[in-house]
Amino acid sequence: MPLRTVTLESMTTSAVPLVQARHVGTAIPGPRSKALHAQRADQVSSGFGVTLPVFIDRAEGGILQDVDGNRFIDFASGIAVTSVGATHPMVQARVAEQLGKFTHTCYMVTEYDSFTKVAAWLNKHVPGNFDKRTALFSTGAEAVENAIKIARAATGRNKVLVFEDAYHGRSLLTMAMTAKENPYKMNFGPFPGEVLRAATSTSLQSKTTDPGEATAEALMQVERLITAQGSDGFAAMVIEPIQGEGGFIVPAPGFLAALREIATRNGIVFVVDEIQSGMGRTGKLFASEYEGIAGDITLTAKALAGGLPLSAVTGRTELMNAVHAGGLGGTYAGNPLACAAALGVFDAFEDGILLENARTIEVTTREMLEPLLKEVDAVGDIRGRGAMLALEFVDPTTKMPRPDLAAAINAHCHQQGVLTLVCGTNGNVIRLLPPLVIAHGLLLDGLAVLRDAIVAESRILPSTGVTIL
Ligand SMILES: Cc1ncc(COP(=O)(O)O)c(C=O)c1O
Repeated sequence: MPLRTVTLESMTTSAVPLVQARHVGTAIPGPRSKALHAQRADQVSSGFGVTLPVFIDRAEGGILQDVDGNRFIDFASGIAVTSVGATHPMVQARVAEQLGKFTHTCYMVTEYDSFTKVAAWLNKHVPGNFDKRTALFSTGAEAVENAIKIARAATGRNKVLVFEDAYHGRSLLTMAMTAKENPYKMNFGPFPGEVLRAATSTSLQSKTTDPGEATAEALMQVERLITAQGSDGFAAMVIEPIQGEGGFIVPAPGFLAALREIATRNGIVFVVDEIQSGMGRTGKLFASEYEGIAGDITLTAKALAGGLPLSAVTGRTELMNAVHAGGLGGTYAGNPLACAAALGVFDAFEDGILLENARTIEVTTREMLEPLLKEVDAVGDIRGRGAMLALEFVDPTTKMPRPDLAAAINAHCHQQGVLTLVCGTNGNVIRLLPPLVIAHGLLLDGLAVLRDAIVAESRILPSTGVTIL
């Protein structure tokens, strides 16, 4: 079934729609991008890395156009942010209207109603058949930090339980919660204490190949950790329903429900981090719906406001109201332009087409790429849900990660005008996060480029059976 396309004319308010076709007219990066990158190096901290050093001039539908006129198929969506596209007319209209009125008052100084409207939509749509309240912030890490503040205030406890391969952000507390050392944590310690890590249910490198056994082992480890730390020690257990930066790891069926039960039994606030997996990315509004679970607190950000900075903590009223007045906030928390953009995103999801598109993207991608599981021995896994899919590259004999191959395939795609991203604790996973408005032909073209890159690069860099980490 083809993707439901939103016509180009309706995808932009600009007079000339951006051509929805891949085009590589210069070396990548092109001369203008190279010149701008040289200027950047003179002005910007080198602490910022870059996946593909091209400077973007326009973005629309499934295309990013750079300053040299090259057009890239967007399989990144600004890391799962522009799910409704970078120029959705419903978002543009709401933001333009708000821009004409005011840009900022600070919600803690004077109020505006769009904040309440965003909260009401989230209270209604976030999983959980209970009374909820929402607090808005700007970044994902801020949402995570505030969830911990709320859980601590509500429980009077302080420890935080997180998982292997987790990613929760780059602030000091969320760095402690994130698993991967390089580049996220290296040189930045010491980190806040009271953050303890347990195993997850699935990994290609796991000691057992039986998923049931891996899940049982992981759950036993969680129980042991809670017992060892004292069952009244943990304020919060935080998990991504599909781990994003860690490698698009889908938990084994039943793992999340078992964690939910353990949290309830021990009075621990169960926090579901839907910052990357939420807001329609997986074909449902929230990935936790696939497992039939609800967090006591659920976190959203990224795609929530279609590119404007907005994050949310939505949870049980008794938790969200356990904090003293003035205990939550931030100068830009729930900025009015970002709230307007979120209302535009909600409008865009209203007819269900984008959720359907996410599911169609999964079907199309699996049809195109799953044959590689048999054809290319280094393709270890193709996994994910909806438009949150990834390929893992491993040595077929040792099952050791192949970050070298993932990097080469990624670079190959970039040269051909397809923007892919690498992720995974071992850097051996290529993830696909196309905007849900991508045209069907564009998706097929991008996938064909990726497939050819995998075949070509795995011939140049064949598996050796030797550990290459
Ligand atoms: C699951 C998850 N949590 C938290 C964050 C942090 O969000 P931000 O970068 O907006 O602080 C991210 C960002 O990638 C994420 O994927």
